[in-house]
Amino acid sequence: CGIVGYIGENQAVPVLLNGLSKLEYRGYDSAGISVYHDGIHTIKVKGKLAGLREKVEKDDKKSSHIGIGHTRWATHGVPNEINSHPHNSQNGKISVVHNGIIENYLELKNMLIEKGYTFKSETDTEVVAQLFEDLYDGDMVSTTRKLLEKIRGAYALGIMCTDHPDILVAVRKDCPLLIGLGKGENYIASDIPALLEYTRDYYLLETNEIAVLKNDGVKLYDINGKEIKKEVYHVTWDIAAAEKGGYDYFMMKEIMEQPEALKKTIQPRVTESGIHLEDVSLTEEEIKNCGRIHIVACGSAMHAGVVGRYVIEETCRIPVEVDIASEFRYRNPILAKNDLCIIISQSGETADTLAALREAKKQGVKVLAIVNVVGSSIARESDDVIYTWAGPEIAVATTKGYTTQVSVLYLIALYFARVRGTMTEEAYTAAVKELHDLPEKTAEVLKVDARMAEIAKKYANCENAFIIGRGLDYAVAMESSLKLKEISYIHSEAYAAGELKHGTISLIEDGTLVVAIATQESLLEKTVSNVKEVKARGAKVLAIATEDCTAIEDVADEVVYLPKVNHLFTASYDVLPMQLFAYYIAVERGCDVDKPRNLAKSVTVE
Ligand code: G6P
Repeated sequence: CGIVGYIGENQAVPVLLNGLSKLEYRGYDSAGISVYHDGIHTIKVKGKLAGLREKVEKDDKKSSHIGIGHTRWATHGVPNEINSHPHNSQNGKISVVHNGIIENYLELKNMLIEKGYTFKSETDTEVVAQLFEDLYDGDMVSTTRKLLEKIRGAYALGIMCTDHPDILVAVRKDCPLLIGLGKGENYIASDIPALLEYTRDYYLLETNEIAVLKNDGVKLYDINGKEIKKEVYHVTWDIAAAEKGGYDYFMMKEIMEQPEALKKTIQPRVTESGIHLEDVSLTEEEIKNCGRIHIVACGSAMHAGVVGRYVIEETCRIPVEVDIASEFRYRNPILAKNDLCIIISQSGETADTLAALREAKKQGVKVLAIVNVVGSSIARESDDVIYTWAGPEIAVATTKGYTTQVSVLYLIALYFARVRGTMTEEAYTAAVKELHDLPEKTAEVLKVDARMAEIAKKYANCENAFIIGRGLDYAVAMESSLKLKEISYIHSEAYAAGELKHGTISLIEDGTLVVAIATQESLLEKTVSNVKEVKARGAKVLAIATEDCTAIEDVADEVVYLPKVNHLFTASYDVLPMQLFAYYIAVERGCDVDKPRNLAKSVTVE
């Protein structure tokens, strides 16, 4: 979900709506705002922000110098107007916006019901508003402290009170929240793009630090109510980076930004003498003695991890396990002291991934994180961070986030391989050279754009798709399948090509779409046989292959050729036509590419 808050000399509503529009990628089941206009005045709608905008325009009580806003990804209660934020206490004194989950909300709700409170919604957030009112002692900081003693779980909260129309309170635990600093005005937001138009200076709130915002300044307190001072962060990237810049959708803009993002991520870390990872504090001894690597992440970041497993195992001869964060954290994983945990997250805020990181640290294992958002929770809590310099990623379906994560895994693999002496100097030098040139080659491969738009037209009406491959091609099949299903709603499955005949092949019938990724030279013949098997059962086959693999032409209906590269790096290229394919299919089907139904970019709840 996304949170925005404003207090200052100007009108609050335009800032709130504009800020929310920048955060809509965090959730768009419903949206709402509260302002102070002779008391708290709340306006909310089910659905996307455009609806809220319309409703607010017609409202004659929107003039205000303070307000909070929210765009929701539903957890407790269906996405409807009643359950949408902000939530108010029953006498209308308190209004609250909230990200996260209050774990003990039922217990608190029952306690409040016994005291005579009545509830309108099914949400945990309404409990916070009512509880705040119940605990209210006239002072916002001391009431917030009392609130924090009672609530358990994860939260980022923005709170307003009719007794203090000159104060906005913000507090957080395990969900991001930042405080934007302006002149004669101040802001809160769950993510920086909401504020970029207004300020580049901000505080990052830490767990249970309380921020009190007024027009002319921000005071920060610790949980004991003692005033504290914090470092001011400054955003360096440009506002244009968070805007669509002429493209129809952020996703296409971000696909096309990949050469640049890869360049920023790879090239400063590669010189003629090899790979340099200044951000990594692991000693040569630690790298040499590394027993096992556990890569842990969610979604596409986990798929990047699967690519990492193939590449690291081959180049470094270290066993690698890839885990889904929500599984890892609860299965009491077996970690040895000389293991390494690599955590991957674009946002750096995914709740399950953060919890997995903490589990690894608790067990005394070093954590190396691959993160895009600077200063995010995962970046701050890891022992080492290697940033992907992809810039802000707005489309829910990740593209440049994923490919830059993969490129950092190559950097790690080659860096470790040299330290461990598991690659010949010749192979190492050749690989480093190719990695250095990967951004330019990516730009070349993206020229397949128009062709993918054509091919997508043919398949836009299919209901099912199977994406097959072996080895690294299978890793890419997983990511390609996720891309397709998340934005086009076509049911899609990734399958290890050799495993098809053990079940999935029964689903192939006349006209079923099968995408075969076949770029691993050593496995080519095998994949060609698998394509023959599905063809024989009526499948329509689109193949992604390297230019020297003409054998596939005889069996596939369509072939998209990619340049021949070192087999270690094929994943970075194979995924590009598949990103475009998913994009164009979604456009053909009239889907909202950047905001697919039911999804959110950054999932800060379990
Ligand atoms: C969400 C997004 C996915 C993303 C995953 C992990 O589910 O929709 O695209 O891969 O979270 O996000 P992270 O920020 O940790 O990489």
